[in-house]
Amino acid sequence: MPFSPPIWFDTLDSTNTVLKEMVVDNSQLPSGTVLATHYQTNGRGRLSRQWQSAPGENLTFSALLRTNIDSLALTSLPLVIGVAIVNALETYNMHGQLKWPNDVLVDHKKIAGVLVELLPSPDGKLANCIIGIGFNINMSLDSANVINQPATSLLIESNQTYAVQLVLDNLLIHLDKAITLWEEKGFAAIKPNWIKHAVSLNTQVTINNTINNITTGIHRGIGPSGEIILEALDGTITTHFCGDLSL
Ligand code: BTN
Repeated sequence: MPFSPPIWFDTLDSTNTVLKEMVVDNSQLPSGTVLATHYQTNGRGRLSRQWQSAPGENLTFSALLRTNIDSLALTSLPLVIGVAIVNALETYNMHGQLKWPNDVLVDHKKIAGVLVELLPSPDGKLANCIIGIGFNINMSLDSANVINQPATSLLIESNQTYAVQLVLDNLLIHLDKAITLWEEKGFAAIKPNWIKHAVSLNTQVTINNTINNITTGIHRGIGPSGEIILEALDGTITTHFCGDLSL
């Protein structure tokens, strides 16, 4: 799934929102289109949260993926992207950790988040996926400290600044590899790498699903579509396809 050279903007509302509008306006917009911006005025996170990123510091971009993967298997796409980000982190000698479903941490602090949004497909065949990624690159410790959860950046972890555009070019190579493998061989080919980096495997976690059902249990694994498998104290096994995980 090759990506086109990114189209860079100084400021956008949200790359996910703008790319979505472009797809709605042009149903022929090619798969692999990438929009990136140095600053988002209305960056969005999962579950209607905000995504904060100071002007010019970090990577914020969205890519269009049109794929014929079936809708149940699409649940695993955010995990595939997490693996691609971890692989990119390795090129900077950093060890990424994956927190289900789609947070990437370094040293237990969030370095990247993924927001995948699906658009109805006009022909009913290919799914239109908007893959939005926020990746903290040159975020200072001061900026990280005002975020309401532990956050980090490549700069904080290595004491070095990075050219944001080059980080994107590198990440697109890893996204291309992981998504191509997923499309050709399925999530089963990616899952071992996800598990290898899982931050919560065999520890107790709490999942709050989007309608406020809370389940606590030991994280025992990941199912074939990327769903998380929990074992409660009484041995009951539950699986969850979406929600917010607390460690
Ligand atoms: C999360 O961790 O909650 C997901 C964060 C996703 C943020 C990215 S930044 C680029 C793209 N545009 C957005 O508005 N959000 C995503």
